[in-house]
Amino acid sequence: MKRFGVSLEDNLLKELDSLARKQRLPNRSQAIRYLIRSHTVTEKWDTNRTVSGCVVLVYDHHKRDLLNRSIDIQHKYQHLVLSTQHVHLDHNNCLETITLKGKAIELRELADKLIALKGMKHGKFVMSTIG
Ligand code: NI
Repeated sequence: MKRFGVSLEDNLLKELDSLARKQRLPNRSQAIRYLIRSHTVTEKWDTNRTVSGCVVLVYDHHKRDLLNRSIDIQHKYQHLVLSTQHVHLDHNNCLETITLKGKAIELRELADKLIALKGMKHGKFVMSTIG
């Protein structure tokens, strides 16, 4: 067993504590273990198998840099993109749903790049093992 210090923003710490409560985990260490294990399970999907999936993104379209980067990434991986749906939520926010099909490892790579874009307000990737 190793010990290490973790620095977290207040809101992330609140989320961690709330996750611990919901999952009935007795402490923060258990909560972090839980997160690592659920991440590892997800990573095990990363194979050459053909799967389908969906990325949901919410962003402010005034952030042109973010928009351009997102489009560049999607063009780079265009062989995986089946469709995109763009909904204007309000004056600032857009919700984009990108439907994907291809190798699991590539889908994960594309989704991670989009979700990690600086300024992205929300990003979620759902993968189905059925291709
Ligand atoms: Ni829009």
